Amino acid sequence: MKYQRILITGGCGFVGSSIALYIKKSYPNIKIICLDNFIRKGSKLQVQRLKNADIEVIEGDVRFYDHLKKITADLLIDCSAEPSVSAGLDGSSKYLVETNLVGSFNCLEWAKENKAALLFLSTSRVYSIEQLEKIPFTEGETRFEWMNNNLAKDRTQQGITKNFSTQGPISLYGATKLSSEHLVLEYSRMYDIPAIINRFGVIAGPWQMGKVDQGFIALWVARHYFNRSLSYNGYGGLGKQVRDFLHIDDICSLILKQVNQLENYRGETFQVGGGRNNSTSLLELTKLCEEISQNKIEFQKVENTHSNDIRILLLDSEIVKKEFHWKVEKNIYHLVKDVYQWILTNEDMVREIFCG
Ligand SMILES: NC(=O)c1ccc[n+]([C@@H]2O[C@H](COP(=O)([O-])OP(=O)(O)OC[C@H]3O[C@@H](n4cnc5c(N)ncnc54)[C@H](O)[C@@H]3O)[C@@H](O)[C@H]2O)c1
Repeated sequence: MKYQRILITGGCGFVGSSIALYIKKSYPNIKIICLDNFIRKGSKLQVQRLKNADIEVIEGDVRFYDHLKKITADLLIDCSAEPSVSAGLDGSSKYLVETNLVGSFNCLEWAKENKAALLFLSTSRVYSIEQLEKIPFTEGETRFEWMNNNLAKDRTQQGITKNFSTQGPISLYGATKLSSEHLVLEYSRMYDIPAIINRFGVIAGPWQMGKVDQGFIALWVARHYFNRSLSYNGYGGLGKQVRDFLHIDDICSLILKQVNQLENYRGETFQVGGGRNNSTSLLELTKLCEEISQNKIEFQKVENTHSNDIRILLLDSEIVKKEFHWKVEKNIYHLVKDVYQWILTNEDMVREIFCG
C-alpha cells in the first residue's frame, strides 16, 4: 500500500466508518484519521468502535478549511456530505451547498496543499430526472420494470450507463455532487492529483443509521424489528419503485482495490451500483423483512409523487467490474439478514435512532 496516512472526512458516517475499519483491518500499520462534525444522528455511536480499532477521530467540519489545515495525510477519502436527495426541500439549501460543494472544494485545496490523492464519493442522482422518468416501463405485480426493447449506448439490461443524460434538473443534492465531480476532475488534471470518482447507487448494511429520506433499507429492517409503521411515498403509494443496491462489504472491497491503484487515475468517473440483478422494490423489500423478522407492520399510502422522485434507478457497472477485477458478492438476502443481525445485537443502542 502506497498510502501511510489516510484522512476520511465524514469518517463517522455509515460509509466513512465502514471504509476506515475495512482498510485498518487489511493494513493495521496505516494511520487513519476520521474527521466528522457529527451532524448525522448516530454518527457519535461510531466513535468508540473506531477508537477501539486504533483509528483517530477528530471533530471538525469540511465547510471550514481551517478544520482541515492542520491535518496531514497522503490520501483523502471524502465521505462527508448531506447525503439526502430531499435536502433543501424545506428551504434550507445553505448547509447542503456549503457541505457538499464548498466542502469538496476545501478537500481539493487540502489535497493540493498536501500533495495527497483523493477518492470522491458521488451518486447516481447526477442523472437527469426528466430523462429517467421518460424511459418506458411496465407495471408488474411487485415492481415497476424498465422495458428493454430500445436499449442504446446509454442503457443496457442492467441499467443506465455513464452516457446517460445529466442535463436538466437533478435535485440540489445531485447538483452539488455533479459540480464537485467537475472540480475533482479539473484539480486532478491541473495539479496532478491522483483521483477517482465513484457514482454510487444505494449503499446499505450494518451501522447505517437509516431514515426516511436516506438509508431506506436499514430503516425498513429496523421498523420491522421495532414494530413501527412506514409509508409508501409516491407513484400511487404502491411501493413499486425500484432501486439497485450494494452491500457495504462489496463497496469496501472495491474501495480498497481502487486505493491500491489510485496513482494511475486522474479524475476518472465510475458507476458503482447493483444493476438489475441486485435491485429491489419497496414491496419486495417489505416481503423479505417480514420473512426475516417474522413480523408484519402497518403501511400508509402516500399517493403524491415528489418532483425529485424517480420511479426506477439502476446502474450498469460492467466497466468498474472489469477495470478493478471486482465482483459483487452479496445479494438482498445477505443484506437484510446482516442489518437485522446488527440491530438484534445492538437493540438498545439503535432504538432511539430508528424509533425516536
Ligand atoms: N449511503 C448511500 O446510499 C450513498 C449512495 C450514493 C452516494 N453516497 C455518498 O457517500 C458518502 C457517504 O454517505 P453515507 O451514507 O455514509 O452518509 P452518512 O450521513 O452516514 O455520513 C456522512 C457523514 O458526514 C458527516 N458530515 C456531514 N456534514 C459534514 C461537514 N460539514 N463536515 C464534516 N462532516 C460532515 C455526517 O455527520 C456523517 O457522519 C456521501 O458523500 C454520500 O453522498 C451514499
